[in-house]
Amino acid sequence: MSKKRVLITGGNKGIGLAVSRAMLELGHEIIIVAREFETCPLIGVKDVTAIECDLSKLDTLPALAKEVGDIDILINNAGYMQPKYTYDNYPVERRDNIMNVDLYAPVELMNIFSEHMKKQKYGRIVNTASIAGQIGHPDVWYGIAKAGLINATKIYGKLLGSHGITVNCVAPSPVETDMQKDNSEERKKEFKKTVATGRFAEPEEIAKAIVWLATDCPEYINGICIDINNCSYPR
Ligand SMILES: NC(=O)c1ccc[n+]([C@@H]2O[C@H](COP(=O)([O-])OP(=O)(O)OC[C@H]3O[C@@H](n4cnc5c(N)ncnc54)[C@H](OP(=O)(O)O)[C@@H]3O)[C@@H](O)[C@H]2O)c1
Repeated sequence: MSKKRVLITGGNKGIGLAVSRAMLELGHEIIIVAREFETCPLIGVKDVTAIECDLSKLDTLPALAKEVGDIDILINNAGYMQPKYTYDNYPVERRDNIMNVDLYAPVELMNIFSEHMKKQKYGRIVNTASIAGQIGHPDVWYGIAKAGLINATKIYGKLLGSHGITVNCVAPSPVETDMQKDNSEERKKEFKKTVATGRFAEPEEIAKAIVWLATDCPEYINGICIDINNCSYPR
């Protein structure tokens, strides 16, 4: 595959960092978007551009897109959960923030960056959804946002497929990243009982699927969601 320009939101940490590393190994140029890069080991590395942006601020996305320029591959990976809020005690501003970061920003980035992809009749988009969008998750707005992202993947696969663009997503069960710091020990223990190997996934295991969907995956695979949950939600 020729060298591609790849935008990876949240490519500084966790699953996104594993995707960034794998894309660099394949010889691609990457642009990472996140809020801070203090701990990111890829700063200063060849073919890496880091752009600070809080994706909850949707009105800044057009300016972000200008700074990024045209891309071939979009990895909508940034996201977070906030399990401390219950459905009946979920502050409106926290609901709005998680919907912006986990659903509206990814959709808006698909709208923006698919314009050039359409012109060049080629593009690959991969969204990081979650098992939370499939099972009815206790962090209700996280689950709602990720369910929305799975459906957006199908809609955009249909809208963009005739332009040489594929849109797919992954739905991981818990992964060993910083995000799990927000989860209770009790819930983590309970979940591990449902997983065939009794452990959480490693970020690299999720990145492998994301990178495949964004590179080698045939064009005919479009609008799908790869469940990566080690039998915790077989269907
Ligand atoms: N870990 C899991 O158990 C799990 C399971 C299923 C799905 N996922 C999904 O996987 C994706 C990556 O999460 P992770 O597990 O790798 O967790 P992580 O290590 O906490 O990474 C989250 C990433 O999202 C970025 N991010 C969060 N809020 C942002 C904002 N407002 N603006 C810009 N960037 C923002 C973070 O960058 P900054 O903090 O620097 O802004 C970071 O790069 C998320 O979409 C998550 O929902 C995770």
